[in-house]
Amino acid sequence: MSEKEIYSELILDLYRNPVNFGSLGKADISVEGGNPLCGDEVKFELRVSKGKIEEIMFSGHGCAISRAAESLLTEMVKGKTLHEVEKLTEKDMFGLLGNVIQTRVKCALLGLVVLKEGIRAYGKNPERKAVVTGIRI
Ligand code: FES
Repeated sequence: MSEKEIYSELILDLYRNPVNFGSLGKADISVEGGNPLCGDEVKFELRVSKGKIEEIMFSGHGCAISRAAESLLTEMVKGKTLHEVEKLTEKDMFGLLGNVIQTRVKCALLGLVVLKEGIRAYGKNPERKAVVTGIRI
């Protein structure tokens, strides 16, 4: 099996069985956004303690690549500081997805863009819960 086939299978598997999919209920950061061209939407909910992500879940609807990217992203950022997550780049997302989907840039980056906006809003006032909606990629 080629690397491309392995990653294609991983993406399809995560599309069918996403990890960290659902709602936290109580969250310190809640952020929603989407791609108006395709209609895909994602929402992240995070619990934060001492600047670190303790828990994160996502929900919404999207294509196989965006959903797989969001699953992998939530796994990657758990336990990281908000500052570390703010520094993640599109290269990191492509790396998570095996560098096989560079023609689907917005699909791969939707989750990261939305998540960073929520973290940015929270960073401006960490004493209060951040609720951000309407992020567009
Ligand atoms: Fe909409 Fe992939 S087709 S994010």
